[in-house]
Amino acid sequence: MAAELSPGDRAKQAAAERAVGFVEDGMKLGLGTGSTAAFMLRCLAARASRENLRLTCVPTSKRTADLAGSLGLDVVSLDTARWLDLTIDGADEVDGDLVLIKGGGGAHLIEKIVATASDRMVVIADAGKRVATLGAFPLPVEVIRFGWRTTQALIEEALAAFDVDGRASALRLAGAEPFVTDEGNYVIDLQLGRIGDPRGLALVLNQVPGVVENGLFVDICDRLVIGHPDGTTEVIEAPAGKGSAAAGV
Ligand code: A5P
Repeated sequence: MAAELSPGDRAKQAAAERAVGFVEDGMKLGLGTGSTAAFMLRCLAARASRENLRLTCVPTSKRTADLAGSLGLDVVSLDTARWLDLTIDGADEVDGDLVLIKGGGGAHLIEKIVATASDRMVVIADAGKRVATLGAFPLPVEVIRFGWRTTQALIEEALAAFDVDGRASALRLAGAEPFVTDEGNYVIDLQLGRIGDPRGLALVLNQVPGVVENGLFVDICDRLVIGHPDGTTEVIEAPAGKGSAAAGV
């Protein structure tokens, strides 16, 4: 099977396999969204079945819930699980401090809630997701539909105070219609090019009325697993003081 995968998919598979090795019997898990997370779900289901692991899983999107259910994983809501041991998820960009951009799939609101409810967050990615400075990938911001044009203008105004290379923004579309998240909201993608102060920007964006959540994950990721097409992996820990485990959660 592995021989049929593209080099990029082999890298995702390698990262997924390695991260699933961190799962222990009895754990409550957060399941990420995206193509890398989908590899992880398949590895997880295979390992759970092979080793008879008892796992309780909270998905971060409808599509992840559907895939997890079809693979026979035990899926519950976060309100049932309340707190989780470990979340494994993908990312769109990761910097040297393990600050992330997420939300390319539009699931970053639930992904952030689930990751924050977890003792540890492990991010799985291919090497192309590692960057020196965040921002080449458009930063997703989930906004409520009401008055979204005003919210977009307020976001652009807020960006004026930030060290970024670009300030253009665009409503995300699905075909000719606005893309709608699982929570029924819109997404505005910010073409920033470079984000000089992700921590400050994450705080300010969430203060704009109408913004539900931005895609910057600061001090949430504890460990990064990078996969390579040859099947090898690298594990990078968050710098001391970063991430939920380091913060004593
Ligand atoms: C979903 O909203 C995102 O946060 C994904 O986790 C992220 O876009 C990574 O997706 P891929 O693994 O498909 O690149």
